[in-house]
Amino acid sequence: MPRFTIPRDIYHGKNALEALKTFQGKRAVVCVGGNSMKKFGFLDKAVAYLREAGMEVRIIEGIEPDPSVETVMKGAETMSSFQPDWIVAIGGGSPIDAAKAMWIKYEYPETTFEDMCKIFGLPKLRTKARFCAVSSTSGTATEVTAFSVITDYAKGIKYPIADFEITPDVAIVDPELARTMPPKLVAHTGMDAMTHAVEAYVSTAHCAYTDPLALAAIKTVSTDLTDSYNGNMEKRDNMHDAQCLAGMAFSNALLGIVHSMAHKTGAAFADLGAHIIHGAANAMYLPKVIAFNAGNPEARKRYGEIADSLALGGSSDTEKVKLLIEMLRKLNAALNIPQCIKNYGPDSLPAENGFIPEEIFRARLHDIAVNALADACTGSNPRQPTVEEMEKLLLCCYFDTEVDF
Ligand SMILES: NC(=O)c1ccc[n+]([C@@H]2O[C@H](COP(=O)([O-])OP(=O)(O)OC[C@H]3O[C@@H](n4cnc5c(N)ncnc54)[C@H](O)[C@@H]3O)[C@@H](O)[C@H]2O)c1
Ligand SMILES: [Zn+2]
Repeated sequence: MPRFTIPRDIYHGKNALEALKTFQGKRAVVCVGGNSMKKFGFLDKAVAYLREAGMEVRIIEGIEPDPSVETVMKGAETMSSFQPDWIVAIGGGSPIDAAKAMWIKYEYPETTFEDMCKIFGLPKLRTKARFCAVSSTSGTATEVTAFSVITDYAKGIKYPIADFEITPDVAIVDPELARTMPPKLVAHTGMDAMTHAVEAYVSTAHCAYTDPLALAAIKTVSTDLTDSYNGNMEKRDNMHDAQCLAGMAFSNALLGIVHSMAHKTGAAFADLGAHIIHGAANAMYLPKVIAFNAGNPEARKRYGEIADSLALGGSSDTEKVKLLIEMLRKLNAALNIPQCIKNYGPDSLPAENGFIPEEIFRARLHDIAVNALADACTGSNPRQPTVEEMEKLLLCCYFDTEVDF
């Protein structure tokens, strides 16, 4: 049965963080990442607001980017000893996703990571705590989604946990928090939001409830992301809302193989000393996947609708698809994001020789393709690739060659 699930409350706009003052409960645990939220004073503010609401507060800090299974298990132990009735996660996608997984383990201590990864197979949460997410990046929209992405470093694979049970109860989308993002983070998370919206719009699970959200998000990202990247704070504020609209769309319409490929390449070369950052991976793969998916007439038509909503021109769907791809590649260039893996430097910036040598990429290609096909995001992609096609697609993403199959 079609279902559209979003948080019960979404507080947005300037000073939305103050909503924490109105929470009712005894104990709140605040989950946070490395140091940005502390450094810019947002952590202190959040803690003060919760204390003002009469709650005892404990902090779980130091959650790393692309959080690990170990971090999740450790955090859940802290929760078990403190017994919070509110879990408040503040920061980018990483601390919020880790906190969602900790929440599952806190509610059901017997649960293994494998159990959590059974798609839409979680037991009922909220027997011990409710969940509030406060986003500080403008991309993942995890504050409103049914997803959490956790990395198994032993396997070098990112696993999405997916279930409406982990859609937060409350989302706080306060633009002030996103204003401190450095430009590179703006670029990556912004293209993540663009990819969410485009994949949601063409997903096989899209519907009348998700389409307008996806189109509105695509429009704002296409007009405002570059300015936000270049320091325009009004546009930065618009982006914070746009990524949340994209989140409401894709949490219900699901995603596609751009995300499958990003999940399975992200940490696959971590032994070479770097990750392919989630948003940058999406930005590089999206134009290639659009070209591949456009082989399906229905998907081609829908990409055409996106191009029309942006007034890109073109008289046939094929032409419109080309113009959409061109627009996205221009956006990457304006944001200093490489167009392909071969040119992806260890610092994520364009480089003549990226950090992944061709022979290593080729050696791991088959396994990555198999893993990408098995990713939870593949099922709702409008064109189902074979392993061979997935390998070819990944090679196009490596070399920036035309997708002609
Ligand atoms: N759950 C979902 O629906 C979903 C969707 C897409 C991606 N993801 C996952 O989310 C993670 C990426 O999250 P992210 O892109 O938000 O980045 P992040 O949370 O990994 O943060 C990246 C870095 O930016 C810093 N940072 C965060 N906010 C800042 C701010 N306002 N000012 C200055 N610095 C700041 C952090 O301290 C960190 O060092 C990945 O693991 C990805 O797979 C989840
Ligand atoms: Zn994403």
